[in-house]
Amino acid sequence: EQIEKGGYDHFMLKEIYEQPQVIRDTFRGRLLSDQGLIKMAGIEDNLNKFINAKRIIIAACGTSWHAGLVAEYMIEEFARIPVEVEYASEFRYRNPIINADDVVIAISQSGETADTLAAIKLAKEKGAFVFGVCNVVGSSISRETHAGAYTHAGPEIGVASTKAFTTQITVLALIALRLAKAKGTMSQSDYLRNLIELELIPEKVQEALLENDKILEIAKIYKDAPNCLFLGRGFNFPVALEGALKLKEISYIHAEGYPAAEMKHGPIALIDENMPVIVIAPQQNHYDKVVSNIQEIKARSGKIIALVSKGDEQVKNLADHIIEMPNSTEALTSIIATIPLQLLSYHVAVLRGTNVDQPRNLAKSVTVE
Ligand code: G6P
Repeated sequence: EQIEKGGYDHFMLKEIYEQPQVIRDTFRGRLLSDQGLIKMAGIEDNLNKFINAKRIIIAACGTSWHAGLVAEYMIEEFARIPVEVEYASEFRYRNPIINADDVVIAISQSGETADTLAAIKLAKEKGAFVFGVCNVVGSSISRETHAGAYTHAGPEIGVASTKAFTTQITVLALIALRLAKAKGTMSQSDYLRNLIELELIPEKVQEALLENDKILEIAKIYKDAPNCLFLGRGFNFPVALEGALKLKEISYIHAEGYPAAEMKHGPIALIDENMPVIVIAPQQNHYDKVVSNIQEIKARSGKIIALVSKGDEQVKNLADHIIEMPNSTEALTSIIATIPLQLLSYHVAVLRGTNVDQPRNLAKSVTVE
């Protein structure tokens, strides 16, 4: 097992560090940025189904559901197709409205999650076209769907999903951009910029990993916190949810992810000097709004750990700690911002002495409902 961990203390850490490579593996051969093209057989063969779709329904569980939320923002913004993201377990039991001109995208690392599989069967019965985004080749979901695109994350052993999530976002970004091109809903310059930026994501993820030592120091300060809040806006709202899920899963600290502006409708009541608040605050569209959210936390003596764009000065002056990351397009920054949050939960869990790779009560693949 030590050999399999490749010199890392845990599979989770190894898998976090594999991300530059597996993200590249996931877009290799599909992203032809010099030609301005995206080629994915599963999409090309079914392009009309996607283009004519009145609606895309995304069904998934857990971390894959969070990737679905990122995809919702991407597909709606780039390709202007309405998207709904459903917990597979809710979807399958609520007699959902599914039409023959709906496209369902099922996202699953393992390809074996019982609820997601049942949601697919239901969608097929109602005549929808079902597309799978799976990591495990030949898995039940990859066989049950009409078509699909694999993530190339390789085997993920740590129960807490890391590289599967960022490669899911990679595939979903490719799909959203391909559909945008087909529908003519995105300016050519924005489209090309996203292609070029996607190609740069592996090096930017590598750069984000360089903050590891600093993140370890932050983890040492907050490892005994009973609660923790994660905030983000736009594409980084699902990243906040995923950050909170990671911390819960492996450190057993109660954590909640929230859209930053919703803080005032509840979670703000929890903020005092004992509450660490992790805020994803890159210098992008929502920057000023997030800065004012940070000021609100500071006014209530919350401890602020901010993820900022390299060179940021404004948030640096407000936050207790900053973690820097390289910028990308707004959509693709969601991949980069995920990295420090994975490292933070990893270090907190190790410092608390939990079983990082096999947290209590959790299973890697949930094949029963
Ligand atoms: C389990 C795993 C999670 C995963 C979820 C969905 O709860 O512990 O890491 O996100 O199932 O799994 P899937 O394989 O469908 O992505």
